Amino acid sequence: MGTLLSEARPPANSLASMGIDVAGSTFGIHTETTSYVFGLTGEGLLRHLHWGGRIELCDVIVEPLWELSTNDLIQDVTPQEYPGHGRFRYNEHCLAIMFSDGGRELDLRYAGHDLGAALVVHLRDDRGVRVDLHYEVLESIDVIRRWVVVYADVPVSVQAVASAQFHIPYRDLDLRNVAGRWGAEFQEIVQPVTSKVVLESRRGISNHHHNPYAVLSRQATETSGQVWGMALAFSGNTKTVVEQTQYGQTLVQLGINDADLAIALNAGDSFTAPAVVATYTPHGFDALSQNLHDYGRSLMEPTPRPVLYNSWEATNFAVTCDAQIALAHRAAQIGAELFVVDDGWFGRRNPEPTGGITDGLGDWWVDPAKFPDGLTPLIDEVHQLGMTFGIWVEPEMVNPGSDLYAAHPDWIYHEQGREPDTARGQYVLNLTLAPVQEFITQMLDDLLAENVIGYVKWDANRPMSQVGAGRDVWYRHVQALYDIVREVKRRHPGVLFEACASGGGRIDFGALNVFDDFWTSDNTDALDRLDIHRGYSLVYPPQAMRAWVTDVPNFLSQRSIALTFRFHSAMTGSLGIGCDLTAMSDEDLRASAKHVQQYEQLRPLMQRWHRLENPSSNDYRLIQYSSPAGAVLFVFLPASRLGHTSTTVRLRGLEPTGRYRFELDWQTHVARGDYLMNRGVRVWLQGDYASTVIRFDRVDDEGAV
Ligand code: DGJ
Repeated sequence: MGTLLSEARPPANSLASMGIDVAGSTFGIHTETTSYVFGLTGEGLLRHLHWGGRIELCDVIVEPLWELSTNDLIQDVTPQEYPGHGRFRYNEHCLAIMFSDGGRELDLRYAGHDLGAALVVHLRDDRGVRVDLHYEVLESIDVIRRWVVVYADVPVSVQAVASAQFHIPYRDLDLRNVAGRWGAEFQEIVQPVTSKVVLESRRGISNHHHNPYAVLSRQATETSGQVWGMALAFSGNTKTVVEQTQYGQTLVQLGINDADLAIALNAGDSFTAPAVVATYTPHGFDALSQNLHDYGRSLMEPTPRPVLYNSWEATNFAVTCDAQIALAHRAAQIGAELFVVDDGWFGRRNPEPTGGITDGLGDWWVDPAKFPDGLTPLIDEVHQLGMTFGIWVEPEMVNPGSDLYAAHPDWIYHEQGREPDTARGQYVLNLTLAPVQEFITQMLDDLLAENVIGYVKWDANRPMSQVGAGRDVWYRHVQALYDIVREVKRRHPGVLFEACASGGGRIDFGALNVFDDFWTSDNTDALDRLDIHRGYSLVYPPQAMRAWVTDVPNFLSQRSIALTFRFHSAMTGSLGIGCDLTAMSDEDLRASAKHVQQYEQLRPLMQRWHRLENPSSNDYRLIQYSSPAGAVLFVFLPASRLGHTSTTVRLRGLEPTGRYRFELDWQTHVARGDYLMNRGVRVWLQGDYASTVIRFDRVDDEGAV
């Protein structure tokens, strides 16, 4: 009844390559401090053996696995690396195929491996399907990347294809993700995994609700405890399954969503599924975030994102050349480095009620009524003022009233015989059509060739629907989006692209592969943003998190928050300003300029983000950055409540023996890193919406006070 791995103890003469070693039929994928191990069973299955702290393959003991009963058979009992649908497999499977005769049984068996820059393990089903499992190591940041390629030797329809499955050898883990909606993205959720949890997007974008990752933990805090994190690099329909199996383990699977999916492969075709990024740490959520932030930053241009001014909240659709120039003057006055004209500069995109959201999209010509001499006078002025010029576009969409739609009504997603859906008064262009791809690429190419533009905000303000007959469209739309952005960037190197989908609807590592930063949320309320930033920061790097200071009362919360608090909140991300600067008082303009200047001075120190725990008071909200040169501490007091008092803040990420100079209570101090991390500093704010920023500079040659 029992089944054993073919080799219980692999021979010691292992073949090592880039953190990967293979000993007999056991495979080890090692980062600096972690190992991921799997091996071949006597049944030809790939059995997961370990994902956690670093181990050596020669020590691996392969405990026998038994069929527990006639209902618990070996395919299900074995924690498989990449199980196919079929046979006695009832927990989540990774791959489901329909053969041309309607058959759906898959029996994937190990068929060899190759070891190069990555480990590629070959699986094969005798009916003509092969799968390559790719494992790549990013050793220094404790991250592994996995992806799969499915090859068809006969015509098949792929009905489900996950990118990876993981096994954690414990029950009763906590799952962290986010739950949100437009204007309330990235609200942290924590839930014990006692059965099966599915988090997904079916909207064609990574969406505002859940995000395509899973973070699992055992009694972890920010600084202690085992944490496993996995994130899918894909910006469309995704599915994350977390399942406590009946065999004492937790299974995690990530991939494109199999809801409404069918990918037809002819003989000779292949399909590459998006990658999953995975990391493990025994040191809590902060360490997990550092690894994932490092990964995210490795995808980004290293130069800091410029301080941005964006016109959206100031002017809405009522864009005119003169009004934008007036804003640009004020933006330059307060120190903005980039001036972005948002929605409203093109087509017949007029303020409601004469037009508004039902016209303009698709007609990417400069509105002569608003810009009689084109964009050049504005762009020249912005450059004269020392700023980069940026522009908003929503290339995937078209309005029913546009010339583009009149010329190409067949370019939108729609179901034959049904009225096409509008949302925000717009249709979604069918990006899987070659002429649509060419149109968008050429439109952006022309826009960037005819105008000196350094930044493009790419928006998408509605989910997809009515995609028609093709059930692979959900996937191909996203691939086309990536291809277009890449191609435009190839033609216009150096132009930065911001990913926006009605705020934070398109935030994921797939987007960060091609875009340069994210619009995090349309909710610009400075207090709400602290929660949104916290949720975002678990996985994604703060350097890509755009945050604006906007006018009060905030359009969404109707809350009026002090300007300093608004700046400090936005400074925890990549700073932007979205106020109507022409209506701002001189005093606030002067204060804004000071804040921008302070941010620019702090920016070099703002590298590693830490969500500080606050043991002595729950009134304060604390965010800290660290870097080799020092640290920055943001302290927020939203409301001075009953019994409000000071709090002691212990810093993180400092050099224990390094010396740091800082100012506290109007006095200058120098203290060692271990003092600041172990004893900490006492901070006391008073009043509602109070906040402060404390800068710690590394000054090793100065004595402690
Ligand atoms: C939604 C975005 O999130 C906003 O920042 C703004 O660009 C509007 N769209 C413009 O229509």
